[in-house]
Amino acid sequence: MRERRKPINEARLVLPSHSINESFARSVSAAFVAQVNPTITELSDIKCAVSEAVTNCIVHAYADSIGMIYITMKLYDNREFRIEIKDKGRGIPNLDEAMQPLYTTDKENERSGMGFTIMENFMDSLKVTSAAGKGTKVIMSKHFSPLPRIK
Ligand SMILES: Nc1ncnc2c1ncn2[C@@H]1O[C@H](COP(=O)(O)OP(=O)(O)O)[C@@H](O)[C@H]1O
Ligand SMILES: [Mg+2]
Repeated sequence: MRERRKPINEARLVLPSHSINESFARSVSAAFVAQVNPTITELSDIKCAVSEAVTNCIVHAYADSIGMIYITMKLYDNREFRIEIKDKGRGIPNLDEAMQPLYTTDKENERSGMGFTIMENFMDSLKVTSAAGKGTKVIMSKHFSPLPRIK
């Protein structure tokens, strides 16, 4: 993740691609952002987007093996949250195609092909970089709404 300014808090998580770790990573992201009092909607948007990105590492990047997933989370003083989810798996040969709604390479497991669309819609920004055979990096960000003033 390119360092533009200093985060007020950060956390890193490295975990193997066991499917049980999808819910663990999702819960850790929710626990991390809890410190800035997100709304229920903001919290559930983040959990959904993280779940989609981590699931992709588990089912696509390391389809026939177990590999490591690298997660970095940062919070900035303007109430912005940034998360990077990286794998060293098989990579995505055609990213434009893969990011189209309903596109999936895994029809036999009845995947929806909506993972990237969900990430894009539930977060403020989504950036994906990938190299075939090397891995994939997903960077997402979201601004939390201002805290209500106590009168
Ligand atoms: N981390 C990843 N590593 C390898 N391929 C990926 C990864 N993430 C996504 N893909 C590819 O992009 C496609 C679209 O992903 P997504 O929108 O989440 O849909 P789905 O997971 O339902 O197939 C996947 O079918 C897969 O081919
Ligand atoms: Mg997916």
